[in-house]
Amino acid sequence: MAEPMRGMKRTCRCAELSEKNIGEEVIVMGWVQKQRNMGNIIFADLRDRSGILQIIFEDDGTENGYFSKAGKLRSEFVIAVKGVVLARSGAVNKNLATGKIELKAKELRILSEAKTPPFPVEENSKTKEDLRLKYRYLDLRRPDLQKNLIMRSRIAGVIRQFLAEEGFIEIETPMLTKSTPEGARDYLVPSRVHKGSFYALPQSPQLFKQLLMCAGYDRYFQIVKCFRDEDLRADRQPEFTQVDMELSFADEDDVIDVNERLLKKLFKEILDVDITLPIQRMTWQEAMDRFGSDKPDMRFGMELNNISETVKDCGFKLFTDALAAGGSVRGINAKGQAAMPRKKIDALVNMAKDFGAKGLAYLSINEDGTYKCSFGKFMAEEELKTLVSAMDGKPGDLLLFAAGSNKTVYDALGNIRLEIANKAGLIKDGEYKFLWVTEFPEFEYSEEQGRYLAMHHPFTMPFEEDIQYIGSDPERVRARAYDIVLNGIELGGGSVRIHQDDVQETMLKALGFTEEKAYEQFGFLLEAFKYGVPPHAGLAYGFDRLVMLMAGLDNIRDVIAFPKVKDASCPMTNAPDIVEKEQLEELGIEIKEE
Ligand code: AMO
Repeated sequence: MAEPMRGMKRTCRCAELSEKNIGEEVIVMGWVQKQRNMGNIIFADLRDRSGILQIIFEDDGTENGYFSKAGKLRSEFVIAVKGVVLARSGAVNKNLATGKIELKAKELRILSEAKTPPFPVEENSKTKEDLRLKYRYLDLRRPDLQKNLIMRSRIAGVIRQFLAEEGFIEIETPMLTKSTPEGARDYLVPSRVHKGSFYALPQSPQLFKQLLMCAGYDRYFQIVKCFRDEDLRADRQPEFTQVDMELSFADEDDVIDVNERLLKKLFKEILDVDITLPIQRMTWQEAMDRFGSDKPDMRFGMELNNISETVKDCGFKLFTDALAAGGSVRGINAKGQAAMPRKKIDALVNMAKDFGAKGLAYLSINEDGTYKCSFGKFMAEEELKTLVSAMDGKPGDLLLFAAGSNKTVYDALGNIRLEIANKAGLIKDGEYKFLWVTEFPEFEYSEEQGRYLAMHHPFTMPFEEDIQYIGSDPERVRARAYDIVLNGIELGGGSVRIHQDDVQETMLKALGFTEEKAYEQFGFLLEAFKYGVPPHAGLAYGFDRLVMLMAGLDNIRDVIAFPKVKDASCPMTNAPDIVEKEQLEELGIEIKEE
């Protein structure tokens, strides 16, 4: 049949029907989930994005009628059914929204047949992700993924509406552009017209949104694709989406205010969760000292404790050597974990080593108050007692210590803290703990490049009282940058921007840019700032991360329709792929054989 839907217009989606519709004649269309042939009656579960509806086909006694067609149905056939809604003749299915009804078919059209799919299209699929991603269009039929993408769309809708009401204007910025300074590798696009020249895909719209402030748009936002060629992780994709915004005549408090109200509205409307405002703020230094992380998970305690003073004269060289080298000794108290088996402790020791620590010292406090201690022989009984008391150690507790440079100690203990909490089930599902981390360092030293890099980006305003140290003591300079953290994940980040020529020049010099190089890379911005620029500040969320957290998931692939896998490829399209020789010639590109 060339036009299989002629005369059949869908009246509703499958799961929009309920007991209220009993007796009505309806037309539904969708995919066959499964079919059961009972001889004189055939059942089919029909699925569309709303859910599943049970259809019954009773023998109509004709050779070419709907009953004989129903006998041919297989999983994933696409069909249209006209029928009457009835109360279920069999048992009610409590797992289905439409479990109390069924549709008695009067007419059946097969709109499209289907090969047997390579895996069953079902919720909570057990099929390996590799195979599902190869057939992503089938995977995307699964109710869990459909729920995620529908939620994603709703979240975007609420954000758009809120920001529009707050006076933000949605403006698109270019995808074919110049390198932006977010610090990852760029994806490059060769130019045919300008052979040997390349566009860079934007790592963020940072410079353009600042130019829009220069241009007087006052409040800008965009839900925008960004591209970064960096190693993939559960919360990182090479192309991802930001909710990006910038505000003129504004400082950190203005940005935080509008975003707190946005988050409150979003969590209420989408999840019916009440967020208490204001969201807690913590300086970067405090976050590192207390949690060993600039994105602390605030759903549990187990804070780091600096015991450098307590152990400075002890006999344990691992501790005293670290202190002599200008580092620190810190510990965490894993409450009630004294009985942790040796194998698990060894795994934590290895983890500490992976983060650069020389080791992980531990002391468990037995129920009778005696200690089991990996460094007991290096310390007097009295010294151990003082240490335990400094750590608030009680019978049943496991104390873990790392020594080394501050960075190493923070990294090791910060990660071990998370590991223990995860394994010990200290983290409750469905809890949302937000935190603003503020006063980040302006610079961080790159061993690899042998110079200071901007921790956020080179346009981030330093604290006024710290500007004097930019040249002499860069590590002392704090940035007016802030991150919004949710349950230990960096949801977004932003800053107040530099809008004064002289400060920008000092910054760029400290980052190793000559004037010439700076002009070559972002001269258009530096030039624009000479024509009247309002003080401005902004923020960008990782939209995929936001949706992932709101959907209660732990991988952003599950909220992205067509994600990439670990090596940044797409198993469905096989991108990236080689291209025709002619295409390369046109671009003036030659591939060097390895
Ligand atoms: P930043 O680099 O912190 O700031 O990025 C903002 C947020 O984007 C998300 N994000 C990612 N999500 C998925 N995959 C990735 N590869 C990835 N990289 C980053 C994170 C992060 O917090 N222009 C500035 C913002 C500003 O200053 O206004 C910027 O891009 O959730």
